[in-house]
Amino acid sequence: TRRVTVHDIAAAKRRGEKWPMLTAYDAMTASVFDEAGIPVMLVGDSMGNVHLGYETTVPVTLDEMTMLSAAVVRGTKRALVVGDLPFGSYQEGPVQALRSATRLVKDAGVGAVKLEGGARSLPQTELLVQAGIPVMSHLGLTPQSVNTLGYRVQGRGDEAAHRLLHDAKSAQAAGAFAVVLELVPAEVAAEVTRSLDIPTIGIGAGPDTDAQVLVYTDMVGLTGGKVPRFTKQYANLRQTLGDAAKAFADEVVGGTFPQEEHTFH
Ligand code: KIV
Ligand code: NA
Repeated sequence: TRRVTVHDIAAAKRRGEKWPMLTAYDAMTASVFDEAGIPVMLVGDSMGNVHLGYETTVPVTLDEMTMLSAAVVRGTKRALVVGDLPFGSYQEGPVQALRSATRLVKDAGVGAVKLEGGARSLPQTELLVQAGIPVMSHLGLTPQSVNTLGYRVQGRGDEAAHRLLHDAKSAQAAGAFAVVLELVPAEVAAEVTRSLDIPTIGIGAGPDTDAQVLVYTDMVGLTGGKVPRFTKQYANLRQTLGDAAKAFADEVVGGTFPQEEHTFH
């Protein structure tokens, strides 16, 4: 088995095939998704909220990204692993972006990196691609800009839609191999998808993008509290894990675990 490459991703667009992407933050979960045939795994900086207990993605560091990206690479045999460049690791300019991306490629072994912004990240994207690092772009709601954008639908209205399309075309022209569209109207995402040769990956962007991505903890029902309307819960792992923990606790307190079969003499 060889890993999925950006060439396979390009070929899927030419053939009109849709594909799924999931986030992963550890080797074990990544191995489950790899065996399930998920072709692209994103080590998202959503690890900040999901895995590290931060309130936003903003505090996530390159060290944290590198450590968890390496775990996901070790846990997979087939998936293309994409690592997010965290906030503050590429905004200073292309040279900083290259230094950060190089770390994820060399120390963690990711096959591609993702960064937020279209036109505003164009010089970064160009230099990384020149250096041989595939870049996935992230447009629409870009959570690293929560302090200016908030968490609401982006690209509503003619002007904003036009800007989004321009950003997507800029990313493509700079050499990005795919574009994430987060929280944008379905009609705008469909138009961007038709206008690009590279695939679009939607999250809260309707049914007409080339691929779909979900944060895995939302997808398996592990996330506590309110989840965004655009996610779908395919399992209830929060319930399952909680029930298992309670059953274990009850058996320990009641003296029914361990039994003879768990015991050495
Ligand atoms: O960090 C993340 O999980 C992401 C996806 C939502 C695209 O960037
Ligand atoms: Na992200």
